[in-house]
Amino acid sequence: MRLVLLGAPGAGKGTQAKKIIEKYPMPQVSTGDLLRAAVAAGTALGKEAKSYMDKGELVPDSVVLGMVEERLKQEDCKAGYILDGFPRNTKQAEALDAMLGNLGMSLTAALSVDVPFENLMKRLTGRRTCKACGQMYNVYFNAPKNEGSCDKCGGQLFQRDDDKEETIKKRLDVYSAQTAPLIDYYGKKGILKSVDGAAGTIDEIFATVCKALELK
Ligand code: AP5
Ligand code: MG
Ligand code: ZN
Repeated sequence: MRLVLLGAPGAGKGTQAKKIIEKYPMPQVSTGDLLRAAVAAGTALGKEAKSYMDKGELVPDSVVLGMVEERLKQEDCKAGYILDGFPRNTKQAEALDAMLGNLGMSLTAALSVDVPFENLMKRLTGRRTCKACGQMYNVYFNAPKNEGSCDKCGGQLFQRDDDKEETIKKRLDVYSAQTAPLIDYYGKKGILKSVDGAAGTIDEIFATVCKALELK
C-alpha cells in the first residue's frame, strides 16, 4: 500500500499512521519528523528548515522533495509506505506523481482526516511527544500514565517548538491556502477517502480509517 495522509495540523495524521503501522508494518514517512530530526542533528538542511518551521511556514519544495525522494528509494519502502505530511501543496503532489510514474507505481489512496479547526488548538497545545520513540500523547485527551514519560518506552516527553498559539494559527492558514486544495486534487484522481477525525476516540477513529481503507 502506498498511502498519503491529508489533514490539518493536529488532525491526527501521525496518530493514525502509528496505529496503521502497528497492524500493517510499513514505514511511516513523516516529512515533519524527518525535518525535526535534521534540525536536532544540526545539519545544513536542518538549519535551513528551522527558520520556516518556527514561523509555521512550509519549508521550500526544493529541500523537501530531495529529502522525500532519498527516503522513498530506501529498501524498506519497496513494498509500500505511509506518507504523513507530504505532499503539502500542488507542486509537491505533482512531483510525487512524477516520481512514482518513473517507477511505474501509483498511490493506493489519499486519506483525508477531517477535523474542524476549533478542535485543533487544544490538540496541538496539549500534545506531548516521546523523545525516544516518537509516540504522541495529549495532556487533555490521552495523557500518559506518568506525567512527562512515555507509556511505551519510558522516554522523556517534550512539547514541539511550533505548538505555540501564534505559530499554530499560521500553520492553519498555510494548511487552508496550500494543502487543503489537495483534497480536490486526489478527489479528481478518484483515490480520495475521507474520515471524520473528530467523531470519537483515537481507537474509534482508527476503526473508521480501517473501514475506509478496507483494511481487514
Ligand atoms: P508536521 O510535523 O507535518 O506537522 P502538521 O501538519 O502541522 O501536523 P501535526 O504533526 O501537528 O499534526 P498531526 O495531524 O500529525 O496530529 P497528531 O497525530 O500529532 O509539519 C511541521 C512543519 O514541518 C510544517 O509546519 C512545515 O514547516 C514543515 N513541513 C513538514 N512537511 C512539509 C512538507 N511536505 N513541505 C514543506 N514543509 C513541511 O495529533 C495531534 C494531537 O491530538 C496529539 O496530542 C494526539 O494525541 C491528539 N489526538 C489525535 N487524535 C485524537 C482524537 N481522536 N481525540 C483527541 N485527541 C486526539
Ligand atoms: Mg504529525
Ligand atoms: Zn516512547
